[in-house]
Amino acid sequence: MAVPVLLVLELCFLMMGGLVVVVESFPFSEADKIAWLPGQPFVGFQQFSGYVTVDDKKQKSLFYYFVEAEFDPFSKPLVLWLNGGPGCSSLGVGAFSENGPFRPNGQVLVKNEYSWNREANMLYLETPVGVGFSYSTDASSYEAVSDQQTARDNLVFLQRWFLKFPQYLHRDLFITGESYAGHYIPQLAKLMTEFNQKEKLFNLKGIALGNPVLEFATDFNSRAEFFWSHGLISDSTYKIFTSSCNYSRYVSEYYRSSVSPVCSKVMSQVSRETSRFVDKYDVTLDVCISSVLSQSKKISPQQVGEKIDVCVEDETVNYLNRQDVQNAFHARLVGVNRWVVCSDILDYELLDVEIPTISLVGELIKAGIRVLVYSGDQDSVIPLTGSRTLVRGLANQLGLNTTVPYRVWFGGQQVGGWTQVYGDTLSFATIRGASHEAPFSQPGRSLVLFQSFLQGMPLPEMF
Ligand SMILES: *[C@@H]1O[C@H](CO)[C@@H](O)[C@H](O)[C@H]1NC(C)=O
Ligand SMILES: *[C@@H]1O[C@H](CO)[C@@H](O)[C@H](O)[C@H]1NC(C)=O
Repeated sequence: MAVPVLLVLELCFLMMGGLVVVVESFPFSEADKIAWLPGQPFVGFQQFSGYVTVDDKKQKSLFYYFVEAEFDPFSKPLVLWLNGGPGCSSLGVGAFSENGPFRPNGQVLVKNEYSWNREANMLYLETPVGVGFSYSTDASSYEAVSDQQTARDNLVFLQRWFLKFPQYLHRDLFITGESYAGHYIPQLAKLMTEFNQKEKLFNLKGIALGNPVLEFATDFNSRAEFFWSHGLISDSTYKIFTSSCNYSRYVSEYYRSSVSPVCSKVMSQVSRETSRFVDKYDVTLDVCISSVLSQSKKISPQQVGEKIDVCVEDETVNYLNRQDVQNAFHARLVGVNRWVVCSDILDYELLDVEIPTISLVGELIKAGIRVLVYSGDQDSVIPLTGSRTLVRGLANQLGLNTTVPYRVWFGGQQVGGWTQVYGDTLSFATIRGASHEAPFSQPGRSLVLFQSFLQGMPLPEMF
């Protein structure tokens, strides 16, 4: 293993400003190695978790969970996974409900046979500070946290994480995630490509965005038609939800604390018809599935008279609040009493949702970075139709022709969804029967999609 010592030391000086900190950052990853997670089955891969300080003055520390690939980790890529919110945990949602190696079940962890660490070394990051086990000792760090700040912190996290894991420095790197990570990921990737122009540090190959917020109005306003076509609202409600007050207008007003009477009236009617007993993140699922329900509570503000119903007896919440589990994870609760799925101390700049990131995605494509936008097709929060429109528009704008015409793809013997590929870098895919958290409800199909994405191959055309 060629450990680029010079580069590592240089980085230490650059980023940490002195030898003292370099010494403190030893012994690299060994201290973060997880011996055993309580209740876990025997596995042959290594796990690590702990903190990376991203701001020395404010003592901002981001918590990560790193799962090496099940087989042959040295030949597999490195994949960073980010959940959205803003403010929801990649550990609790991503790792423990979606594509991690285990799912909590009572007192034990059950192996997830569709874990993405079958294909890659998976890095789950709780970001920004204030999320999950990530913290700052200076509470002002939780105030007015913006997309820009989050991207900067995430960049520093990666730089310093590579100091702990230098063997991964030149590995093919992908960033994946969902929902509000449609902001986090392109914004981080942009900083990475900028950094690379000074010094080639990140071997970024591609990004995959699941049910992402890429352009607020298109994404949010596709909700009305999704509700209507799935029978969640009536013809007359559809009409006023697309004329009198559409969803992007409502959200804009809501975040400015100035909901107009007309929007208030329209949203009451929409809420009454859609019912709070239907899961908006998967209109075919029953409610109260697990913590995953609350992931996008911020990008999808509570509708009038509606409360997000998060299960009280949530397996992940119970598991991650056990003292023995926190010890095993080298995790600390700082300034909070409990680990929660979505932060309630983080004060995020919610209006940042209006910043379009689709144009950043275009810049990444121009820089040769592969992009996959995928959609769980039962999600009404960020419906497939908005994402599909945005991807097609981007392809047109970039002059990318269709290389794989819209067609079905197979996961096993069944249709896993639909896909279209533009040029050789941009693709869109749906996952049939999947929720906002696609790997949660369709783990097998999601794994097929993930494999194809990493290999840079179109999705299987036949079974
Ligand atoms: C949504 O409403 C805003 C404000 O009324 C309007 O500018 C925009 O065109 C509408 N969008 C759609 C898709 O209806
Ligand atoms: C896309 O298709 C058009 C029309 O067939 C063709 O003129 C153009 O050269 C193609 N562009 C690329 C990038 O292949």
